[in-house]
Amino acid sequence: MATLLIVHHTPSPNCQAMLEAVVSGATAPEIENVQVVRRAALAATASDVLAADGYVLGTPANLGYMSGALKHFFDQVYYPCLDETRGRPFGYYVHGGSDVTGAVRGIESITTGLGWRRAADAVTVTAEPGKSDTEACWELGATLAAGLMD
Ligand SMILES: Cc1cc2nc3c(=O)[nH]c(=O)nc-3n(C[C@H](O)[C@H](O)[C@H](O)COP(=O)(O)O)c2cc1C
Repeated sequence: MATLLIVHHTPSPNCQAMLEAVVSGATAPEIENVQVVRRAALAATASDVLAADGYVLGTPANLGYMSGALKHFFDQVYYPCLDETRGRPFGYYVHGGSDVTGAVRGIESITTGLGWRRAADAVTVTAEPGKSDTEACWELGATLAAGLMD
C-alpha cells in the first residue's frame, strides 16, 4: 500500500479548514490502497518522509516565508532524504493574511533542491477559506492520493 504523508503547521481555524479539506480529498472513497499519514511539521521525521511515497505540505505565511515549523521540518529531513526521495510527487497549500509570495518561493526552492515533482497546483488563500478554496484543497489531497494508487 502506498503512503501519502501530509506535513502541516496548523496554528488557526483557517489553516485547520484547509488541512481537513486536503485530508478529506486524500481519503475519498474512490481512493484505494493509499494510506494517509498526517504529521505536525514539528513532529515529522526523516523516517516519515522516507517511508512515504508522496507528500502534501501545508503552512501559514509567517514573516514573509513559510512557517518556522515547516522550515524546521525541511532543515531536519533535507540531507537524510535527498538521495532516496528524488522524483517523488508533492503538493502544497499556504494560508496567509495578505501575501504568501515568500512562502511559495521558499517551498518551491527547497522542493526543487530535493528533486521532488510538483503533481498539483499550489493552493494559496489569503482570507477565510471559502467553498472554492476548500474545494481546491480537496482536489489537492485527492490528486496526490490518486496519483499513488496502484
Ligand atoms: C508572526 C506572524 C507573521 C505573519 N506573517 C505573514 C506574512 O508574511 N504574510 C501573510 O500573508 N500573512 C502573515 N501572517 C498571517 C498568518 O499567515 C495567518 O495568521 C495564518 O495564515 C492563519 O490565518 P488566520 O489568522 O486568518 O487564521 C503572519 C502571522 C503571524 C502571527
